[in-house]
Amino acid sequence: MSIMIKYVHVYPGHLGLAAQLALVAELRGLLVAAPLFRSSIAGGKQMSVRMSSAGRFGWVSDPRGARYETRHPATGAPWPAIPDSVLAIWRAIAAPHLRDPARLPDSCLINWYDASARMGLHQDRDEGDFGWPVLSISLGDEALFRVGGTARSDRTESLWLRSGDVVLMAGAARLCFHGIDRIRPGSSNLLPRGGRINLTCRVVT
Ligand code: SIN
Ligand code: FE2
Repeated sequence: MSIMIKYVHVYPGHLGLAAQLALVAELRGLLVAAPLFRSSIAGGKQMSVRMSSAGRFGWVSDPRGARYETRHPATGAPWPAIPDSVLAIWRAIAAPHLRDPARLPDSCLINWYDASARMGLHQDRDEGDFGWPVLSISLGDEALFRVGGTARSDRTESLWLRSGDVVLMAGAARLCFHGIDRIRPGSSNLLPRGGRINLTCRVVT
């Protein structure tokens, strides 16, 4: 079951509580190997989210710009593999929107939001081919998701994303401006210390 906000598909509660807990446990191990770090946006301002990645490529941004790297910027190690449970969600939801249904994401960005973190309105456009969709998974505290059109000035609509929700930006939605205005601290007890995790799966090459 999905609902639409602008051209974006949202699958409310796609992941049940047991699946969410299993995924969090898996991420905990993954973040030991690839610790969270901070990126900065153009101009050098630090982002309020902390991030890491899994897959062949990880998204990093620093004063040299935003790009995909095959290694963690602090440890120098290759990123850990994308968990099978995440690939299963991609297969279930993104497959109908893939021109090659077997194609899997080669990057899974892990964004960690504390109570004051946000994500400014942006397009995802550091990938090589915008024909592939972007899929994201929300875990933990609720987040106010804002979606517009393909121009920054287009009218936007907002929706609260909850733990277990999955968002798909495919086709006309792939280059929509989107962002997170704020999270609602304490709205979920999935994560022992609160906060929100968003996993964003992308095809980079
Ligand atoms: C993003 O667009 O990079 C993150 C979206 C989210 O946190 O839900
Ligand atoms: Fe994004």
